[in-house]
Amino acid sequence: MSVKDVVVIGAGAAGMMCAIEAGKRGRSVLLLDHASKLAEKIRVSGGGRCNFTNRYTRPENFISHNPHFCRSALARFTPQDFISLVEKHGIRYHEKKLGQLFCDGSSQQIIDLLRHECDAAGVEWQMPCRVSNVERISASDARFMLETGRGLVSTRALVIATGGLSIPQIGATSFGYRVAEQFDINVTRLRPALVPLIFAPEQLTSFSQLPGIAMEATVSCDGAKFRENLLITHRGLSGPAILQISSYWKPGFPIYIDLLPDIDAAGWLLDHRNSPALLPNLLTQYLPKRFAQAWTEAISGGQPAKPVNQYDEKSLRNIAAQLHGWQITPCGTAGYRKAEVTLGGIDTRELSSKTMEAKKVPGLYFIGEVLDVTGHLGGFNFQWAWASGHAAGRAA
Ligand code: FDA
Repeated sequence: MSVKDVVVIGAGAAGMMCAIEAGKRGRSVLLLDHASKLAEKIRVSGGGRCNFTNRYTRPENFISHNPHFCRSALARFTPQDFISLVEKHGIRYHEKKLGQLFCDGSSQQIIDLLRHECDAAGVEWQMPCRVSNVERISASDARFMLETGRGLVSTRALVIATGGLSIPQIGATSFGYRVAEQFDINVTRLRPALVPLIFAPEQLTSFSQLPGIAMEATVSCDGAKFRENLLITHRGLSGPAILQISSYWKPGFPIYIDLLPDIDAAGWLLDHRNSPALLPNLLTQYLPKRFAQAWTEAISGGQPAKPVNQYDEKSLRNIAAQLHGWQITPCGTAGYRKAEVTLGGIDTRELSSKTMEAKKVPGLYFIGEVLDVTGHLGGFNFQWAWASGHAAGRAA
């Protein structure tokens, strides 16, 4: 049986950061993961270039039942702290937009950075390694006993960094939530987030032939609003604006799409009230042509489009209102197989915001995406993984 100061389960973004910090403090650290390939989520992130942080990270970029929880950890490990690490390893990076930082090369560079820092901090690895049982014990040097595929391990501090449920095909499991349940720690409702939205076939007839068409729009739902690109897919809508709003969408809720966020649509249409052009042809001044045709058909219940001069003022005002607030109700999301993250998780009211330690189970820590702290799209989820991993690594 091996005896450790700290065992971290899950060698992803948060787990490696935690292991590095604990190792640097002289703790004996074992990092184990059931996967055979290291940090697959980092590898696939940011289209293969890893959007590793966001310069403008603020607590407002996170969704949680306990919105202030993330403040302390984010303040103690900032985007600049991670950028310094990236620069120390000579990794070249660029800002794509809105503070989002990506590697110039590939996400593998971030994995190599973390692996290298783990090795420098003396972290021991076990991969692939399954944990079949976790038990609380009370020994002078240990509080937990783990049964693993490679034997028994006892430890004073146990850190759960097994992430969320998204992309089960690359190793996501419900392990973290099951450990929480075992120790009677509440888990908030889980849902796929940062995920494409799906529409019923009858809503889609006009649009399903247009996959790949993209446009900038402002999308809102349940008080949240994002202006980004929107993308038509075979089954519904995707693109950054939709991924962002999906984190706020709940079954049955409509979403509202402002297709012309920069112009006064009513004024513009009324200026053209004498135009003999067909409505969709006029709309192509601002919208992609095939989308304008499908959209006009959709809002007129399948009626053929008319020349603009055949609409009365009330109808033009009504069309303008729909251009600014096209209301559609998704019938679902594309699910965990396509979601970037899991919304909800370990109830943070059960944890210390300074250390991530469970209040009622001394020595048990939860970090990263397994917590009920979900970032917006744009590098925020990794910043949370680094910051929460750092906080636990300094304490465990
Ligand atoms: P993470 O999922 O990284 O790691 C969990 C680890 O636990 C994995 O290695 C897994 O194998 C292991 N594990 C799971 N169950 C286990 C078990 N039972 N036993 C042992 N080990 C187990 N975010 C961002 O900020 N910028 C971006 O560019 C992207 N891009 C992106 C693209 C795609 C396609 C996805 C799916 C996600 C993103 N994200 C992102 C989100 C980001 O990847 C995610 O929030 C972090 O990886 C979460 O880090 P964690 O360490 O918490 O979990």
